[in-house]
Amino acid sequence: MKQGIFEIVENTALTDSVYRMQLQGDTSAITAPGQFVNIQLDGLYLRRPISVCDVTGDILTIIYKVVGKGTKQMSQMRNGKLDLLTGLGNGYDLTAAGESPVLLGGGVGVPPMYMLAKELIALGKKVNVILGFNTENEIFYEEEFKALGCSVTVTTVDGSYGLKGFVTDALKNMEYSYFYTCGPEPMLKAVYRASVTSGQMSFEKRMGCGFGACMGCSCKTITGYKRICKEGPVMRKEEILWED
Ligand SMILES: Cc1cc2nc3c(=O)[nH]c(=O)nc-3n(C[C@H](O)[C@H](O)[C@H](O)COP(=O)(O)OP(=O)(O)OC[C@H]3O[C@@H](n4cnc5c(N)ncnc54)[C@H](O)[C@@H]3O)c2cc1C
Ligand code: FES
Repeated sequence: MKQGIFEIVENTALTDSVYRMQLQGDTSAITAPGQFVNIQLDGLYLRRPISVCDVTGDILTIIYKVVGKGTKQMSQMRNGKLDLLTGLGNGYDLTAAGESPVLLGGGVGVPPMYMLAKELIALGKKVNVILGFNTENEIFYEEEFKALGCSVTVTTVDGSYGLKGFVTDALKNMEYSYFYTCGPEPMLKAVYRASVTSGQMSFEKRMGCGFGACMGCSCKTITGYKRICKEGPVMRKEEILWED
């Protein structure tokens, strides 16, 4: 983990409520897709965790949805500096991918899939991506995944674009060697049940410290309690214990 000051070089709206921010600074602590950064914001005691979407040299890209005070403040910043903790969390393990992994992202679970797809493509994998949204005007990054060379399916719950339904409706017609996913918990549960291979999923929980010190993000797994921020946020399918 590293603490550093990053300069905002871009902050653009991708949809009505989702923004992409590019920050310049020391990205050296970021070692795997699926890791996250923890952002200090004015007047807020707790930092806000946001997944790494991409890293190119010293430019870090994050994508965030405005849901409350912190993300609203971020969306209003046109330039300036932010204090970030970087290199947090375990990230996805690429060695298990097989030849044709499928990546499923739902809403703001889509961003970490981008860096993962980029790295899997660089390893010569055939990457299928399923992006799930509620409706057409919430869609972002379809073209960016296509530009990487991924085969992309978009699903919308209301059927206004792409395949009508959930990401699992696209998954059931697909052949794949392994899965990686990130999204809201009901989606993770559905992918857990629908998937026919092993895989990895990234969990979200409200966080205190974000680096393993407060135990505020503990959750029960098959192999005992784990901290989402430190031993997670990525868990293997086999270690997940659903609470209900
Ligand atoms: C490891 C990790 C990675 C994340 N990656 C992203 C990302 O890439 N893009 C993105 O848009 N968001 C991501 N989030 C969620 C993001 O951290 C929260 O949306 C953000 O902290 C909200 O801050 P706020 O001050 O705007 O809202 P607040 O005022 O703090 O809260 C507004 C609402 O959002 C809910 N909320 C806040 N934090 C969380 C959380 N961690 N999980 C679930 N609900 C929450 C609150 O219960 C409340 O209803 C991630 C969370 C984690 C734990
Ligand atoms: S948030 Fe403090 S241990 Fe995870």
